[in-house]
Amino acid sequence: MKNNMSEEFFRSPKKRGKIAAFLSGRGSNFKAIHDAIQTGAIDAEIVLVFSNKEEALGLKIAQEQNLETLFLDPKNYESHEDYDKAIIREIRKRDVDLICLAGYMKILTPVFCNEFKNRIMNIHPALLPSFPGLHVQKKAIDWGVRYSGATVHFVTADVDMGPIILQTVVPVLQDDTEETLSERILKEEHKIYPESVKLFFEGKLEVRKKRVFIR
Ligand code: GRF
Repeated sequence: MKNNMSEEFFRSPKKRGKIAAFLSGRGSNFKAIHDAIQTGAIDAEIVLVFSNKEEALGLKIAQEQNLETLFLDPKNYESHEDYDKAIIREIRKRDVDLICLAGYMKILTPVFCNEFKNRIMNIHPALLPSFPGLHVQKKAIDWGVRYSGATVHFVTADVDMGPIILQTVVPVLQDDTEETLSERILKEEHKIYPESVKLFFEGKLEVRKKRVFIR
């Protein structure tokens, strides 16, 4: 009996990692992560695709892939914090290890960020800490920077300022429009986001103060 128990113990590795993807729009980054799981590059499963927008295209894509989806309407909650607490309950129910923000266009309250410290990732279409916020591809063009890119970072209550995991650089061309630059950056986003998630589930990411070390 004792032997069986210890065998069982040694035979069962840590459970498979669980991801919740949060999105508000088309969901191409969520899809890139999902594709990387399908090919076996990431050893984890997406247990929930959550949105604050009922009509988000990403929710439809998730349903087509037979993933569980959830929409909660912010209008049904008295405060932003109450809304986030409701989401926390849903995340807890599903024993989620990592939350991937993938075009989730609602700021997370400190209550939420602190509940999942170093377990929420975001992708941002600029080289942070330059150009936080919205419409950053246009801002990069208007500034005349020669290079922009994308950043995957852990999320803290300080919006777009959490510890940086991976970055990728793309040139800004003279005839770029917001659309052409966004497209060039997006292609790279689809590489570094799955890569960051992979590193997380391989246990290779270590956060020391503001810095992320890849072991
Ligand atoms: C991406 O550009 C991402 O960097 C930003 O929002 C956009 C989401 O695009 N945070 P998608 O919904 O993943 O296609």
